[in-house]
Amino acid sequence: MNAFAHYLEAKRTVDDRALDRRVLETLRRRLENTAEPSIADVGAGIGTGIERLLDWQVVTQPTYTAIEHDSDLLATARARLEGRINAEFIASTLTDFAADGENLARFDLVIAHALLDIVELTPALNNLVSLAHPGGLLYFPITFDGETIFEPVHADDATILSRYHASMGEIGDSKTGRKLFHALEEEPVDVLELASSDWIVFPINGSYPNDEAFFLRFVVEMVEQTVGESAGSWASTRRQQIEQGRLLYIAHQIDCLAQKR
Ligand SMILES: C[S@@+](CC[C@H](N)C(=O)[O-])C[C@H]1O[C@@H](n2cnc3c(N)ncnc32)[C@H](O)[C@@H]1O
Repeated sequence: MNAFAHYLEAKRTVDDRALDRRVLETLRRRLENTAEPSIADVGAGIGTGIERLLDWQVVTQPTYTAIEHDSDLLATARARLEGRINAEFIASTLTDFAADGENLARFDLVIAHALLDIVELTPALNNLVSLAHPGGLLYFPITFDGETIFEPVHADDATILSRYHASMGEIGDSKTGRKLFHALEEEPVDVLELASSDWIVFPINGSYPNDEAFFLRFVVEMVEQTVGESAGSWASTRRQQIEQGRLLYIAHQIDCLAQKR
């Protein structure tokens, strides 16, 4: 398994804590009368998002379509999910998938979990909304909203994190979570729920639960790779704090549920 796939697996328990339960409950209720809901999961990664929705009985017996442009991740998703649900696995970008007329207005539920902050927001939303039929649902959880906290405080935090945030989203604006609300006003949808889903990773008795030390090391490495050499000393301090079980990491994110008119 490559490091990014490992990161997505380690992220599962961090997301489990973070996801807003009220939003999930609204999603469950809105789907409860739909037998075999058709679901498009765009940027599906290794498929942990749909595993959770099944494990937590938010959906039962879906017809599931994973759309993921990284074919290695998609192969991992297939290996995890095949046999468990009726599923197809499409190696495609969102743009190409939405360009196929057969996919338009096809789905009861369109999911983009931790995706909108790494793509250009407006065209991605146009495409995601186009996949849902009128009355269909759009679930966009774990949308990063431009606030990152590492504790204890380090003198270089402000410089490093502002460079890190500047690399994200369209025109360097990483506050995608709050922009999403306004961007949805331009779409034929009603917003049903918005809530915080902050990642909070912290040690318990000096060690991180599950695989969350790996998750933290991966996040620190992403920051270091994005910012470059000037982040070297900051990153090595953060790595030491992970080994010592002293680092607290918080990322502000927003979950959104909307319905197509
Ligand atoms: C941060 S990961 C989240 C994966 C998964 N939803 C999760 O939360 O575990 C974003 C995923 O979207 C995929 N991706 C990014 N841009 C995409 C695009 N334009 N079309 C399809 N997949 C995309 C990436 O390959 C990656 O697997």
